[in-house]
Amino acid sequence: MLHALKPAAQALRTTLEITDITEDASHLAGFEGHERVVLGRDETRGLIAIVAIHDTRLGPALGGTRVWKHESLEAAITDALRLSRGMTYKSAIAGMPFGGGKAVIMANAKTEKTPELLEAYAEMLSVLDGDYYTGEDVGLTLADADFLRARTPNVTGTTLGGSENPSPVTAHGVFLGLKASVAHRFGRADLAGLRVAVQGLGSVGRRLCEELHEAGAKLVVADIDAARVETARADFSAEMMGSDAIALADADVFAPCALGGIIHQGMIGTIKAKVIAGAANNQLAEEADAERLRERGILYAPDYVINSGGLINVASELLPGGYDHARAMRLVETIPATLADIFARAEAAGLPTDTVAQALAEERLSAA
Ligand code: NAI
Repeated sequence: MLHALKPAAQALRTTLEITDITEDASHLAGFEGHERVVLGRDETRGLIAIVAIHDTRLGPALGGTRVWKHESLEAAITDALRLSRGMTYKSAIAGMPFGGGKAVIMANAKTEKTPELLEAYAEMLSVLDGDYYTGEDVGLTLADADFLRARTPNVTGTTLGGSENPSPVTAHGVFLGLKASVAHRFGRADLAGLRVAVQGLGSVGRRLCEELHEAGAKLVVADIDAARVETARADFSAEMMGSDAIALADADVFAPCALGGIIHQGMIGTIKAKVIAGAANNQLAEEADAERLRERGILYAPDYVINSGGLINVASELLPGGYDHARAMRLVETIPATLADIFARAEAAGLPTDTVAQALAEERLSAA
């Protein structure tokens, strides 16, 4: 049974229908802890969108919108649910006054993302009335975010908002976090001569390589795009490896900057690196992998802590006074101290770093 949301909004002359599907979604994997799940449908303009609002105790929910053609509505809802909790934790740990949410527009980003569809989605965001702020994600570009922002204030990470491309900020946060991880695991403050294996040379990975190279690290790199690997080899005298093999490279640090689920039971036993510190979201295939890493003495920098620079950057647009790059960078510079705290607590308690990071986020949420 679907329940109509905000009858006042429905009274507007619009072809958009918004329904609260919280109850209907409650049996799906990843639902636990969600406050609200909303479905927007507009047959005329081709929109089917799900907004999952996980937690607003610290502030309005913030999280990107994916444009992806899932095979069913249930799969799309599950995807949004799976990703929104991580946003709550990311914001809480980064000390930002926002909660977590995520949205999925069920459409092919190349063929179905029309201006009419985006207009209907902007309307949906306005109806949510500031409970949810969104921005770029898979299939939703900066140009799309700008288009939405021209129609609703509930969009961040836009040209108008001024924060622009978050990737260099994310990369800098990962670089600082990687250094903090090395300091904890190897007891050294510098990276000179250390072997770092970077998987994925996209917007974040490439920039991270630049910072690592400048700091004197020796790079081992992989990407499915051969041209990116070749450029890294030429620019940084990097060693090249296969995309899958790199996770097991003979290196001190492994920095996953491509895909999620890259760390799993089948390979943890053969990882040579003593530190895992990279940008990719959802690096662990399952929660139990955190304990498997701990048992092997591999220090894992929880992904949503070390890669929070991107979130900090876009969220900064919504802070009083609007976007201020220097302030965003100061917030990013707190990432190493947060990681050091998590590492120390994890060691003292004999717990995986991921478990401690989650507990820290929960602590901040409960205190709110
Ligand atoms: P991107 O799309 O610019 O780069 C990804 C790179 O990984 C591409 O060069 C691609 O060819 C490569 N790749 C894909 N599959 C691969 C494989 N199997 N093996 C090796 N390389 C592969 O993405 P971006 O923005 O650099 O993000 C990287 C990761 O960091 C993603 O997981 C993203 O979710 C995460 N992240 C990014 C943030 C940002 O500010 N851009 C913020 C937080 C997380």
